[in-house]
Amino acid sequence: TAAAAVIACTLGLTATGCTYGLQGTPETGKTMIFALDQAEDHPSYIALEAFSDRLEDATDGRWDIRVYPNAALGNQQETVQLVSEGSVDMVVASGTLLENLNRDFRTLALPLLYEDIDHQMAVLSDEEILGDLFTSLEEPNNLTVLGGFTQGERHVYTKNGPFTEPDDLNGQKIRVQESDLMIDMLSAMGSNPTPLSYAEVYTAIQSGVLDGAENNLISYMTTGHNVVAPHVALTAHQVGTDYVVINSEVFTGMTEEDRQTFLQEWQATVDHHTQMWVELTEEAADDAEAQGSTFTEVDQQAFTDGLAEMLEDELADPEVRELFDRIQNYEG
Ligand code: GCU
Repeated sequence: TAAAAVIACTLGLTATGCTYGLQGTPETGKTMIFALDQAEDHPSYIALEAFSDRLEDATDGRWDIRVYPNAALGNQQETVQLVSEGSVDMVVASGTLLENLNRDFRTLALPLLYEDIDHQMAVLSDEEILGDLFTSLEEPNNLTVLGGFTQGERHVYTKNGPFTEPDDLNGQKIRVQESDLMIDMLSAMGSNPTPLSYAEVYTAIQSGVLDGAENNLISYMTTGHNVVAPHVALTAHQVGTDYVVINSEVFTGMTEEDRQTFLQEWQATVDHHTQMWVELTEEAADDAEAQGSTFTEVDQQAFTDGLAEMLEDELADPEVRELFDRIQNYEG
């Protein structure tokens, strides 16, 4: 295991690959520890496993990635901190969790920003539009953002239902990520938002502490939330983004050649993920229906009106508006 390798290196028991923690020395390679809060059948896990295999092949086995799924290393907030400290090398973090580190991440998670996933992915791969966003957390957080995975469209789902109007959500406790933006959004949609970490949502809905949650259909199925909250309202209130983040010292510690290989395989990983996303979303919808979920078209205008009001407040800040407009009008 990686931990055993670190110990062996520290004790001088192995002849190769003992560059852990040597500041300024390019690492010859290692097994990077990756914290993920998704299950093994989620496209992020599948894409990252394939990333590891290709990286291992391309570097003659010197670099690979060991993904710990199901929040085994902690929830996102905790594991972002572990990557910052260097005890975990990489993590998938929802953009909404990065909003406190750089407000632009909040802007990129606003409702009504992206038209669809193609628009989102084009923006996320355009350095000109993003500026220094991906390197902005290096000082002082020691976090380098490699890029984004789509979270697709997010919808609200509840234990009791169906519902079509914001008023129907009044008083309903809907789980949101630990993010001020998500609290603001789900309030604007009429509900009573309750922040909680991802892994705890199933039990909270099952026991009746919560009335529902909001997520994309893939996560809805891979977490089993469909079992406890079978009423899906197709609100499509956000096209969310997950960011793949690496400890900056690990990244800069690679030799130039290894880093280029790593980035090339990372690009292929994003494409792989996006391709799977569309297909697996359809599959998730079919599976959900087959297992008894109902899908309801909502009064889209009523939800959009609430969100637009919230957006007005947000865009009162000229810097936020500038970035928002630039992305919304982006044509590639
Ligand atoms: C999505 C997203 C995760 C996030 C989760 C959540 O599944 O991909 O990164 O943690 O939503 O709602 O917490």
